[in-house]
Amino acid sequence: MPILRQIAQLGQPVLRAVAEKIARPDDPAVQSLIEDMLVTVADANGVGIAAPQVFESLSLFIVAPYPNSRYPHAPAMEPAAMINPEIVWASDEMEKGWEGCLSIPGLRGLVPRHKSIAVRYLDRKGELREAEYEGFLARVFQHEFDHVQGVVFIDRLENTRELMTEKEYLRSVQSHA
Ligand code: NI
Repeated sequence: MPILRQIAQLGQPVLRAVAEKIARPDDPAVQSLIEDMLVTVADANGVGIAAPQVFESLSLFIVAPYPNSRYPHAPAMEPAAMINPEIVWASDEMEKGWEGCLSIPGLRGLVPRHKSIAVRYLDRKGELREAEYEGFLARVFQHEFDHVQGVVFIDRLENTRELMTEKEYLRSVQSHA
């Protein structure tokens, strides 16, 4: 049975470490970690979660966008585990968008990201996948990819004035919906 994992909060050293690549995706410990991360991200209304956020310094994350109370305008996608992810190409064009993070509760920041990216990763069966993402999905991938490098979204702000409390952010989204 999958279990809800505790989520590491900003200040925990695991969030600042470069995660290790996974040698054996079919290792039962990796498979049960994926199951735990799937239930943990759903329980927390997240659109993604990286292994370091559950205290496992491994190059693995879940991308799981769907519209919810924290991200009312997210697209829906079947949750996917991405192992040893790489960004193989990124557009010069950047786009700013609001992000939050389960490890930094209560804050949203306006983060510049590549508008489009091409990526490579192993799926949970260990098969090589290649994909291109743009917009929100590209943003989620880049946010989670940062986590396995020890980077969090507030590191990428151009200006700390582009931070808001989550409460004010959700209020502004609702008033413009
Ligand atoms: Ni995050």
